[in-house]
Amino acid sequence: MNTLKTLSATLLLGLAAGAQAQTAGPIKVGLMLPYTGTYAALGNMIENGFKLYVQEQGGKLGGREIQYFKVDDESEPSKATDNVNKLIKRDQVDVLVGTVHSGVALAMAKAAKESNTLLIIPNAGAGAITGPMCGPNIVRSSFSNWQPGYAMGVVAGQRGHKRAMTITWNYAAGAETVKGFTEGFQKGGGKVVKDLTLPFPNVEFQALLTEIAAQKPDAVYAFFAGGGAVKFVKDYAAAGLNKSIPLYGPGFLTDGTLEAQGPSAQGLLTTLHYADNLDTPRNNAFRKSFALAYKTNADVYAVQGYDAAQLLGAGLAAAKGDLSKRDVVTAAMRKTVVDSPRGKFTISPAGNPVQDMYLREAKGVNNEFKSVAVKALADPAQGCKM
Ligand code: BEZ
Repeated sequence: MNTLKTLSATLLLGLAAGAQAQTAGPIKVGLMLPYTGTYAALGNMIENGFKLYVQEQGGKLGGREIQYFKVDDESEPSKATDNVNKLIKRDQVDVLVGTVHSGVALAMAKAAKESNTLLIIPNAGAGAITGPMCGPNIVRSSFSNWQPGYAMGVVAGQRGHKRAMTITWNYAAGAETVKGFTEGFQKGGGKVVKDLTLPFPNVEFQALLTEIAAQKPDAVYAFFAGGGAVKFVKDYAAAGLNKSIPLYGPGFLTDGTLEAQGPSAQGLLTTLHYADNLDTPRNNAFRKSFALAYKTNADVYAVQGYDAAQLLGAGLAAAKGDLSKRDVVTAAMRKTVVDSPRGKFTISPAGNPVQDMYLREAKGVNNEFKSVAVKALADPAQGCKM
């Protein structure tokens, strides 16, 4: 009897220690983002947005301090598995936050699934992550590549265009955004007559621009982002194409880039789940607080980082900071209505935002709201089985 008592007391003590280990000390957040290369600015904005939300909560989420670990993924898929394992195995983080590049994010999702690490994606739109690879431990605070592409296709059709060409980098994000555009455009009676690609992150656009000039489509749809978007929009204008063939894109073509693009970007129409001048108390307060903290204006990447922290906060609050209650954390992240600077949005069962897509116009240094292009757009999430 005595032995039994001692045994159960030891067991109880052990359980208590185990539970305590999940609520004591800081939550370790592993930021895997690009801090160098063509997407470097995007990575920095995401980190700043994430940290801003945490600071606004007094440095804690769900009552727990947040401790950061960082890896520069260089937007390099071939290094992605090694890089993510630095965070999972070496630093033993509780939560992964990353990344920008779809190819790198696919490797992160695989590692997160294998190790059952919580993963919040603050940008990369790879469809497979909230499609065949979906899982309860993975959510996205951003978009699927298909979403803004589809919205732009719908708008291009409504604007009466019939023959379009597309141009993008040859990797998952490029292919998927073009697929979305093509689908939306075809619905309105349009036809994509040619898809042009170049390897990521090349910016030698000249030969492809010459081909566009020769084909004379009604419209061009382009996906580039960061440094590549700056160069493409400038080259398009320098070739004189902006005078004869309207250029469209998902909002990444002009987000966070308008100052560097100068006059060449003015008037460009894009679709995205954010517009700088959304005149809501939530967006105005966010932009003010971001500008105060970082001495620069927020963009869509900052919003996605901020909302990644909001999602983690919702999960941790529901579990009172106890990460061992994994089901409570992941269910709460899917149940929450995120009060985002972009407008309120929900998370689909597959883990992707269901959100309005806005048509925006580049004016000065802002992507200004013009209209809602598609309301409450959900990704088709093909192949997701939880
Ligand atoms: C992507 O690789 O998914 C991506 C990168 C930059 C902007 C948007 C999407």
